[in-house]
Amino acid sequence: MMGLGIMLATFLVASVTLATDLPDPSRLALELNEDEFEDYLDAWLKQQEPRWANVSIGNAAPRNGCTFRINGDFGQPQPVYIRKGTFLQPNGNSGQVHLNKDERVTIACTGPRRRISQHTVIDDVAVGRATCVNNNLVSGHGWLNGNRSFNELICSANAIHEAEPTNHRCYGNNLVIRIGFIVNNVFQHLYFSCFNQQRMEVLYVSYDQTPENTIHQSGVSRPSFAAASFFPGVNVNTLYTQVRQRQTIAEFVGQALADKYVTSRQFLARGHLAAKTDFVFATGQRASFYFINAAPQWQPFNAGNWNSLEQNLRARIGAAGYRTKVYTGTFGVTQLRDKNNRLVSIFLDRPHNRIPVPLYYYKVVYDASRLQGTAFVSINNPYYTTDEVRNLTFCTDHCRNNNAFSWLRWQPDRIDIGYSFCCTIEDFRRTVPHLPYMKTTGLLT
Ligand SMILES: *[C@@H]1O[C@H](CO)[C@@H](O)[C@H](O)[C@H]1NC(C)=O
Ligand SMILES: *[C@@H]1O[C@H](CO)[C@@H](O)[C@H](O)[C@H]1NC(C)=O
Ligand SMILES: *[C@@H]1O[C@H](CO)[C@@H](O)[C@H](O)[C@H]1NC(C)=O
Repeated sequence: MMGLGIMLATFLVASVTLATDLPDPSRLALELNEDEFEDYLDAWLKQQEPRWANVSIGNAAPRNGCTFRINGDFGQPQPVYIRKGTFLQPNGNSGQVHLNKDERVTIACTGPRRRISQHTVIDDVAVGRATCVNNNLVSGHGWLNGNRSFNELICSANAIHEAEPTNHRCYGNNLVIRIGFIVNNVFQHLYFSCFNQQRMEVLYVSYDQTPENTIHQSGVSRPSFAAASFFPGVNVNTLYTQVRQRQTIAEFVGQALADKYVTSRQFLARGHLAAKTDFVFATGQRASFYFINAAPQWQPFNAGNWNSLEQNLRARIGAAGYRTKVYTGTFGVTQLRDKNNRLVSIFLDRPHNRIPVPLYYYKVVYDASRLQGTAFVSINNPYYTTDEVRNLTFCTDHCRNNNAFSWLRWQPDRIDIGYSFCCTIEDFRRTVPHLPYMKTTGLLT
C-alpha cells in the first residue's frame, strides 16, 4: 500500500501542475485505512465544496454588516455559537454567515473550566455576547478587549458536548438520546439517537439536512469515539480494534476464515451514521464521535458507496434547496459463512450477542414541505454473492438507470464497496418498520 503522505503529495502536485481535480474518494476506498481516508476526504472536500456554494447569496448581504466565512473566520478550539436561541447558521449554501450591524451572537465555551481565550478578553468568562461591528469584526461590552476579528474568539480547550437520555421513546420502546451542547442551562440539540440498550444497537440517528449545511468547516481534527454512559461494562474501542475483531469473528466462523475476512483492506470500521461532514462547525463535527452515532461498517463500504451517498446528497440538498430531515440507521445483522458453509450472524460483543454488525445501512431523506422522500439502502457485507445481494434487495430500486438520480455517483453494483439501491419510503417501511410515519407523494430526487 502506498503511504497516504506520498499518495496525497502525488495527487496534490498533479492537481497543481495540471490544474486537475483530486480523484474521487471512492477510487481510494480499497487503498486507505480509516484515518488516511478521512484526511484524504478533507483535502478533496476543500477542493470541491467551494463549487457547491452559491456566492450570489453572499453578494446579496447588507454591506454594513458582518461576514464570517465558514472556512477562515471560525477559530479553534471553537466555542459554540448561538443566535436567536439556536445554533448560528450560514446563509443558505453560501459558505458564509451574515450578521446585521449591531446583531449579537452568544459565544460559549461549554464544559467545566472552559473559558474564552484570555488573549482577547478583559474579563475571564465562559460565555459572552459578541456584537457585529463590520466585516469580520466584533465587540463585546464589558468582556472583550476592543474590536476583534471573529476568528480570535476561541476557547481555552475544546467545548464539551453532551449525550443525554430523554424521556422520549422510539420504535420498540427504545431510548431516545439527545446530543448537543448546554449553553446558559439550555440544551441545544444537534441530533438524536434511537438506541436499543439491550442489544447496544443504534436503530437510527435523526437530524436536519438543509442548504445551510452544504459547506462544512474543513481541517477539524477527529477526537476519539466516546461511549458515554450507554455501553456499561463494554470497552467499545477495544472491540473495534482489528486484532480483536479478527478474534471475535474467529469465534463465530473459525480462525482460517476470520483471517480471510478481516484483511488489511476489508475490516470493520466505526461507521458514522450522521456524517462528521454533515455538521458545519468544528463543535458539531466533534460531537458526531459517539458510539451511539456509529455501527460496525466494512471500511471500503464506509469510504466507498456510503461516503459517496453522504457527499452527493449534501451537495444535492444544497443545490436543490431542499429542507430535509434525515433518518440514518441500521437494520438486520450481517452474516458470514463458517467452515461448514453455514451463514452465522456477527456481533462485536460475542458473549452477549450485542453490538451487531448491521446487514443494511440506510438514509431516509424527507422534505415535509414537498411531501417528497427517498430511502437509500446499502448492504454492509463484501462477502455476499451477486445472487445473495439481489435476494437481499427488498424493494423496487428507483436509482439505477434513472436520470433523476444522476447527481448520485455511487457504484451500486460494487459489492466490495457496498451494494446499493433506493426505494420509496412506503416500500422501505414494509421491511424496516423503525421510522415515524412520513406522508409522501413522490421521491426526493
Ligand atoms: C443562488 O441564490 C440565489 C438567491 O437565493 C438564487 O436566486 C439562485 O437561484 C441561486 N443559484 C443557484 C445556482 O443555486
Ligand atoms: C470599533 O470599530 C468602530 C467602527 O469602526 C469604531 O467606531 C470604534 O471606535 C472601534 N472601537 C475600538 C475600541 O477600537
Ligand atoms: C433468498 O432469501 C430467502 C429468504 O430470505 C432464502 O430462503 C433464500 O435461500 C435466499 N436465496 C439465496 C440465493 O440467497
